[in-house]
Amino acid sequence: MKLILLGPPGAGKGTQAKMLTEKFAIPQISTGDILRAAVKEQTDLGIKAKQFMDAGQLVPDEVVIGIVSERLQAEDCANGFILDGFPRTVAQADALRDVLNELGKQLDKVLSLTVDTEALVVRLTGRRTCSQCGKGYHIRFDPPPSDGRCVCSGELFQREDDQEATIRNRLAVYDEQTSPLINYYRQAGLLVELDGMLAIAAVQERILSALQAG
Ligand code: AP5
Ligand code: MG
Ligand code: ZN
Repeated sequence: MKLILLGPPGAGKGTQAKMLTEKFAIPQISTGDILRAAVKEQTDLGIKAKQFMDAGQLVPDEVVIGIVSERLQAEDCANGFILDGFPRTVAQADALRDVLNELGKQLDKVLSLTVDTEALVVRLTGRRTCSQCGKGYHIRFDPPPSDGRCVCSGELFQREDDQEATIRNRLAVYDEQTSPLINYYRQAGLLVELDGMLAIAAVQERILSALQAG
C-alpha cells in the first residue's frame, strides 16, 4: 500500500498514519517528524530547518525532497509506505513522481482530509505529544491517561509551532502552497476526499473502506 495523507495542519494526518502503520505494517514517513528529530539533535539539517519551522514556513523543497527520496529507498518501504506531510508543493509532488518512476513504484491513493479552519486551531492548541514514543493526544478529544503522561508513561510536550500565531501562518502556507495538490491528485485520478471533521475512529473506518474499495 503506497499512500499519501494530505491535509492542513491539524487535519489528523499523523493520528491516522500511526493507526495505518500498525494495520498494514508499513512505515509512516513524516517529514515533520524527521525534521523535528534533526532539530533536536542539532544536525546541519536541523539547524537549517529550525528557522523555517519556528516561523510556520516550509523548509526549502530541495531539502525535503532529498530526505524523502533517500527514505523511500530503504528496505522497510518495499511493501509500501504512508507519506505524512509530504508532498507539500507542486515541485515536491513532481519530484515524488520522478523518484517513484525510477523505483518502478506507483501510488495507490492520496487520502485528503478536510477540516474547518477553526476546528484545526482548537485541535492544534490542545495537542500534546509523548516525548518517549511519539504518540499524539488531545486534551479534549483524545485525552491522555489521568496523570497527564502517555500510556508508555513518557512525558507529554506541546510542539513549539503549536502557538496560535504560528498555527495561523501554517494554515495560510497550506492554503497557498499545498492546497493546489488537491487538484493535482484529482487530475491524476488518485484523490479520495474524506470528512476529517468526524471522530478519530470514524475517520479511520472511512479510510479503511476507501482502501478496500480498491
Ligand atoms: P508537520 O509536522 O507535518 O506539521 P503539519 O502539517 O502542520 O501537521 P500537524 O502534524 O500539525 O497535523 P496532523 O495533520 O499530523 O494532525 P495530528 O494527527 O497531530 O510539519 C511541521 C513543519 O515542518 C512545517 O510547518 C514545515 O516547516 C516543516 N515541514 C514538514 N514537512 C515539510 C515539507 N514536505 N516541505 C517543507 N516543509 C515541511 O492531530 C492534531 C490534533 O488533533 C491532535 O491533538 C489529535 O489528537 C487531534 N485529532 C486528530 N484527529 C482528530 C479528530 N478526527 N477529531 C478530533 N481531534 C483529532
Ligand atoms: Mg503531524
Ligand atoms: Zn508514549
